Amino acid sequence: DKSKSGSRGALVVIEGLDRCGKTSQSSRLVKNLDELGYPAELFRFPDRNTVIGQMISSYLNSDSQLDDRTIHLLFSANRWEKRSLMESKLQSGITLIVDRYAYSGVAFSSAKGLDIEWCKAPDMGLLAPDLVLYLDISPEKASERGGYGGERYEQLEFQKKVAQSYQVLQDASWKIIDANRTVEDVEEHMRDIVLDYVKTCRNGKSLSQLWL
Ligand code: TMP
Repeated sequence: DKSKSGSRGALVVIEGLDRCGKTSQSSRLVKNLDELGYPAELFRFPDRNTVIGQMISSYLNSDSQLDDRTIHLLFSANRWEKRSLMESKLQSGITLIVDRYAYSGVAFSSAKGLDIEWCKAPDMGLLAPDLVLYLDISPEKASERGGYGGERYEQLEFQKKVAQSYQVLQDASWKIIDANRTVEDVEEHMRDIVLDYVKTCRNGKSLSQLWL
């Protein structure tokens, strides 16, 4: 029964380097789940629509300069400001597909040289994802995809460091997706994995907190 009452949605995070295909795969995933009768919504971080998100956006476009720790905390605050909305959606049975989350926060800031534990601290207590799908592509290959868009972090040498930082963050909730395949192959693979998790969460798996 797809409209089982009282059962929650799954929290699914999509991570990966810039240009790995996250954003288009996230939208396809939401559409596929909806079509199969499982309500799903897309979230995206940074969420550039809030006041904090606008500060982040202007930093990413190099229209403003911020110290590394300051921007790190803004990215984290941008997740905290969505926490209660995310929780109520999950509790109402909606599966959330989240394009980037705290792992991006830590991977990008620690690639700049900030201490990893310092980076994790502000995100502790956010909702922990049930599943993290890491779209795996080499930094070289990502850089060839349609060219980098000119935002602050879209540079090959930096992305190589980000890839290393991501590796350190992997835990039991991660699954590595080979993103070198066709868009359709990746889409199908992600849909099948996520369906399993959606069903598990409906059967009463409880929500937990990140990194606590
Ligand atoms: P986007 O291209 O997915 O909108 O993300 C914008 C950039 O911000 C991307 O290079 C990754 C980076 N980022 C962080 O540095 N910290 C974060 O917490 C998040 C969510 C993204």
